[in-house]
Amino acid sequence: MREIFMYVCLCNGITDHSIREEVAKGAQHLRDVVRSLGLAKDCARCVEAAREVFDEAKSQFDLSMAEQLAYAADIPTLTAA
Ligand code: FES
Repeated sequence: MREIFMYVCLCNGITDHSIREEVAKGAQHLRDVVRSLGLAKDCARCVEAAREVFDEAKSQFDLSMAEQLAYAADIPTLTAA
């Protein structure tokens, strides 16, 4: 199956997938992604789109981590049925 991705930063060829990978590696703030990938180092028109992708990825990652920790500690979560 082909993976679908979206270019967020056209100047530097950075995709939403690249930003999500940085979140999974531990990026806590968009500036961490800016430093590691070189995002927005040219025209910076990508900042708002990058922020949307980063915020969504960070929310999903944090929720996933909370669920894993709750599961490990045998604590019910809001998403548990
Ligand atoms: S689109 Fe990201 S620096 Fe130009």
